[in-house]
Amino acid sequence: MPLSLHHVPRALTWHPETRTLRIIDQRRLPEALVERELCTIDEVDDAIRTLAVRGAPAIGVAAALGLVASAAREAHPTRASIIAAIARLARSRPTAVNLPWAMARMRQVIDAGDADGALLLDALAAEAARILAEDIAMCEAIGRHGAALLADEACVLTHCNAGALATAGIGTALAPVYAAMAEGRRVEVIACETRPLLQGSRITAWELQRAGVPVTVCTDSMAASLMRDGRVDCVLVGADRIASNGDTANKIGTYSHAVAARHHALPFYVAAPSSSIDAAAPRGSAIVIEQRDADEVRRVGDRALAPADVRVHNPAFDVTPAELVTAIITDRGIRRPPFRFTA
Ligand code: MRU
Repeated sequence: MPLSLHHVPRALTWHPETRTLRIIDQRRLPEALVERELCTIDEVDDAIRTLAVRGAPAIGVAAALGLVASAAREAHPTRASIIAAIARLARSRPTAVNLPWAMARMRQVIDAGDADGALLLDALAAEAARILAEDIAMCEAIGRHGAALLADEACVLTHCNAGALATAGIGTALAPVYAAMAEGRRVEVIACETRPLLQGSRITAWELQRAGVPVTVCTDSMAASLMRDGRVDCVLVGADRIASNGDTANKIGTYSHAVAARHHALPFYVAAPSSSIDAAAPRGSAIVIEQRDADEVRRVGDRALAPADVRVHNPAFDVTPAELVTAIITDRGIRRPPFRFTA
């Protein structure tokens, strides 16, 4: 029976009449499905920094909607206070381009006229709603284009979570999986655990199980041997920022999968909306990689995984060079090398 998209979860919900933003708190998954309302800029900023809401498209959309929700709850929001909030949210995480992209669109609304008060808030709410609707539509388009790459009984290896919980819609890397299954094909997913914050095992596995997609979790270090054993048909990942030449920043560990896929002559696909393309970055070396707290690696909850004072590397992302990418699936179609993205 074809998959129904009905059970695919939504990372965030927007209630336009009350200008209320609710998110699934992804730090709590898979143990608890907890929703939170984000009412202030402090709450939106904290939710993005601590990965309560995460994934490149989702943080852009959450920042835009959160800006409106918080301004709507202020007694006297001014142009200056909203401009300061936009600047703050644009800086909350550095690698995903969707965040500054969404904040630039909100800033353009302010710069386009001299509206203040309720009129300005209406204009910002309308723009944030457009960003939300566009993200949902881009995910659907990625699903339509990418599904053509997945044969019946395909086994897709993915890393981190580039599913519905990373977007406002049905995801990027997982969108072709959902679309192919909705068309009646059988697809299974291998979700790499994704050390250190385990977005693969905690979030991708939860999301796919809930949606009814067969999923198997493996540790990151098992991926290459699964490829060698013929258990994987393709690697399909998301992106936080794609440079003009196709170099792709995505969750740390993505690069190793691309190297292993090339060694085993497997296709390595990147799926991302147009909002993840940074045509102003000529190549991957121009992309700023977020460095996160050492305790994310040294500890899990109250358990020590390493000596308390040991030095740690904890970059959140790596860059996969374009020469290892077989194709980039965007809402506009499937692009193959040589890549040349323009504004
Ligand atoms: O640190 P995270 O969980 O926000 O990292 C997310 C990823 O790396 C995703 O693969 C990427 O943002 C694409 S999401 C459609």
